[in-house]
Parts: sequence; C-alpha cells; structure tokens
Amino acid sequence: MPVILAPTSENIALCAERLRRGLSVGVPTETVYGLGCDSSSEAAVAEVYAMKSRPQSNPLIAHVLDIAMAKKAVVGWDVRAQRLADAFWPGPLAIVLPRRAEICALSVGGRSSVAVRAPAHPVARALLEAFGRPISAPSANRSGRLSPTSAAHVAEEFAAFADLPILEGGPCEVGLESTVLDLSRARPMILRPGAITRKDLEPLIGPVAVSEIGHQGTSPGTSAQHYAPETLSELVDEKNLASRLDLLTERVAVVAFAGTRVPSHHELFAMPRHAGAYAQLLYATLRRADAAGVTTIIIVPPSEHGGLWDAAHDRIRRATAYAPRK
Ligand code: TXA
Ligand code: MG
Repeated sequence: MPVILAPTSENIALCAERLRRGLSVGVPTETVYGLGCDSSSEAAVAEVYAMKSRPQSNPLIAHVLDIAMAKKAVVGWDVRAQRLADAFWPGPLAIVLPRRAEICALSVGGRSSVAVRAPAHPVARALLEAFGRPISAPSANRSGRLSPTSAAHVAEEFAAFADLPILEGGPCEVGLESTVLDLSRARPMILRPGAITRKDLEPLIGPVAVSEIGHQGTSPGTSAQHYAPETLSELVDEKNLASRLDLLTERVAVVAFAGTRVPSHHELFAMPRHAGAYAQLLYATLRRADAAGVTTIIIVPPSEHGGLWDAAHDRIRRATAYAPRK
C-alpha cells in the first residue's frame, strides 16, 4: 500500500524533492485529491498517465501557487483572468489559456492551451511553495473512476504502488472537481461545472457559455461516462423509486436523501439536503455503495437545481451514463 504521510514540513520537503526527481505524490486539494507531478517533465507526466491508465490525449490541470506562477505557465493573462483569479483564487476554478513551454506538451495532450488553478488547500499550497513551480495533477483515481476525497481513497486507488507517498489533508471540503473555464476562445465557456458557477462568473467577465454534457471535443475528461462506480449504476427519479425497487429481488444500494423510504432488503445510503454537504459526501458515499457488495447502485437525483446542485447533477449523470434510465 502507498504511505500516508502527515503534512509536516519535513514530509512536504520530502514530497517536493520527489517531484524534483520526476516522481509523483498524492496531494490533497479542497476539491478532490490529486496525483501531482512536475508540469515541465514529460517523463514525470508520462508516469502519471500510466499510473491512471489515462489516455494521453486528456490534458492535466497545472496547479499554481498564485497569479505570478500562473503567468509563467500561460500567455494572454488578460483582465478577465485577473478578475477571476482575484475573486476566486485560491479556489476551485481552473482557467484555460494558451500555454508556455514551462508546461510540457505531454501534460496537455499536445494541445496549445493549459488549465491553471491555484488550489486553496493549505497542504497543496505548502507543496507548491516548497516545489516552486507548477504541479500537474489529475484527480488521484484510475481513469474513469470516482475521484478520491480522502487520503485513504487514494491509497485504495493506487494500492499496487507501494512507494507512492500521499500527503494527509483530511476529507476534501468541496468534494467535487473544480470548474473548468475556457478563456482561450472568444466567448468564455464552462467545460466542466463545479463549485464556481456561471452566476458567479458572469458579473465579472460577461456572458459565459456552458458546454453540453457528454460533448467530448474540447475537454476530453468531460466525456459522458466518467466518475463512475464499478457497480452498475442507475438513475431513478424519486417518483419511480418504489416501483423500480419492487422489481429488484437482489439487494441494491440506494443513494438518496435521508428519510427516503427503502424496503428493508435494500440499503439506503443517506445523503444530506444541503448542497454543500451533498457535494462533499457524494463520491465517498458512492464509494461506500460500491463496496457494499450489491448488484446495482440506484441514485435518486436531488430535486434541487442551480448553483452547486448543477455540478452534483453533472457527476451523477456521468456515474450512470451507461446504465438504463428509469
Ligand atoms: O478539482 C480539480 O480540478 C482536481 C484537483 C486535483 O485539482 N483535478 C482534476 O483533474 O479534476 P482531472 O485531470 O481529473 O480533470 C481535469 C479536467 C478534464 O476534464 C480535462 O479534460 C480538463 O480538465 N482540462 C484540463 N486541461 C484542459 C485544457 N487545456 N483544455 C480543455 N480542458 C482541459
Ligand atoms: Mg479526474
């Protein structure tokens, strides 16, 4: 198993040293845990793609300490980027702009742009400070699977990598991946919804488009099936739940608001009604449901929409993308 390290200054220095040697490190952020490596090293980045079995065409986000470091990673840092970073950094917003050579081509699947984000988690910031340069970090899960929101999840994902250090950062505060905003085009576009929403962005930079779910073209990691449990997962509206469950004789896991009535031979994985708490617990709950030894996971989508709920709906739809819709 990988080693979970307390985030002491010695361990942070040790992890920064590993990054300098072209190796990877599990690092907590406020959204999800990442698998960090040196953005400038093709060899380091290749290793991260291989560890995740991730297609090399799917670009990685370069994490930066602050605006000064971002400017070394991108060209065209304009007034829009400045306003957004002033308002939301450090935080869950990745900004796509044309890249500089400091960010290696392999880390962005050969494209001419890079997504940069300054994470808010103090441990991620301490590591960036110690390393002094951008750290590319995809979510620390095997490709297509649920993102990890605790150090133990990362250890589970990379159980075969005995020498991988994971910095302990506690449970992630946001729990869903960052908003990815493309500023490299004439009209800004949200490629992946997250905690920073269109409503947050528009007052600062004007109209923002939102890319269609499942539209692969611009942001490969947003393809329809992603963030999925290994157990067959199905989306069932609350009004159809009782009749759907009646048809299922084998035990299933039901991920739904606390208080949802579920026959006793099935198992309810209760979710909170507050959007922030829901987002924070979604992946951890799906992971528990996945480990429960059931044939099917049924997710009842929340009736609420808007704000953070939209990001939660996006991830739930992806988790159930290849299952029959009821
Ligand atoms: O919250 C997060 O962003 C986490 C933490 C670790 O920071 N990271 C994360 O990385 O979710 P990853 O690799 O799992 O997802 C990155 C997403 C993918 O959908 C990818 O296609 C998109 O961002 N992306 C990255 N760079 C891009 C670029 N240059 N152009 C378009 N999309 C990009
Ligand atoms: Mg990911």
